Amino acid sequence: MKVISKPIQKISSKTIIQMNDVWASYDGKNYSLKEVTMSVDRGVNYAVVGQSGSGKSTLLKLINGMMNPSKGTIRVDYQTPNISNKSFKKVMTKIGYIPQTLGLVKNLTVLENTLMGALPRVDKLKSFFSVFPENEINDANKILKMVGLENKSERKAYQLSGGEKRRVAIARALMQQPEIILADEIVSELDHVTSHEIMDLITEAQKKINLTVIMVHHDMNLALEYANRVAVIKQGEKILEIGVEGDSIVDFQTGNVTQQEILEMYDDKS
Ligand SMILES: Nc1ncnc2c1ncn2[C@@H]1O[C@H](COP(=O)(O)OP(=O)(O)OP(=O)(O)O)[C@@H](O)[C@H]1O
Ligand SMILES: [Mg+2]
Repeated sequence: MKVISKPIQKISSKTIIQMNDVWASYDGKNYSLKEVTMSVDRGVNYAVVGQSGSGKSTLLKLINGMMNPSKGTIRVDYQTPNISNKSFKKVMTKIGYIPQTLGLVKNLTVLENTLMGALPRVDKLKSFFSVFPENEINDANKILKMVGLENKSERKAYQLSGGEKRRVAIARALMQQPEIILADEIVSELDHVTSHEIMDLITEAQKKINLTVIMVHHDMNLALEYANRVAVIKQGEKILEIGVEGDSIVDFQTGNVTQQEILEMYDDKS
């Protein structure tokens, strides 16, 4: 008799996100992600680096349940990300997703945009009429102070600079009382000082709560400066993963990548 044994998907409690041999496609023919296996521990800053079109945003959409894999398994806090999966809906409220386009409502104020993060837990009808409980408004103001926007809370989102808009998107994500933040290139195209200020802000928030952060970056150097782990994606495949502690690289897993390509990545300041 032939016994077919399936591997058991074992998740250790410190792992919050687990992907096994994940493939993803938008049209069923071309794969935007191929054979991606990765594991993210609670509380870490995990950076995903890769060129334009390499599949970074697709990876975040899969973790958030906005897209389903064509093949392979994904678990986020033990649940399969899928917006029609009831058990995942609870997990989803704990994921602060900051899309590449930020997703701010441009005619709403900084405070109102921040309060959007509280929507999953407030009365739907009241929130429709912009009536939020006082404790939520107090919390939003505290978060705005933390991100340095306390003096701009009444300003409309369209009246803000690029750096300020990103701070509002972070404030909205923190307002969700998240366990995970997925941030898609929120420091790209910012000057050196502002991008470091935003990264410091995320690090500060991480220290206050046991927050897991997955950040998509273009800049390998910035990723190495802030992340505990850095994954490099090329044409949909994870070709490299680096563990970082301070200035040291503590482990190094290479996939299909040459030494020359690794050196080029370090030089890539784009
Ligand atoms: N909605 C979509 N429909 C069809 N193909 C898509 C869609 N979104 C992305 N793709 C394709 O999937 C691949 C990966 O795209 P993705 O947006 O994940 O890349 P990215 O690494 O985030 O790029 P960028 O740095 O430019 O944001 C690309 O080839 C892209 O053209
Ligand atoms: Mg993208």
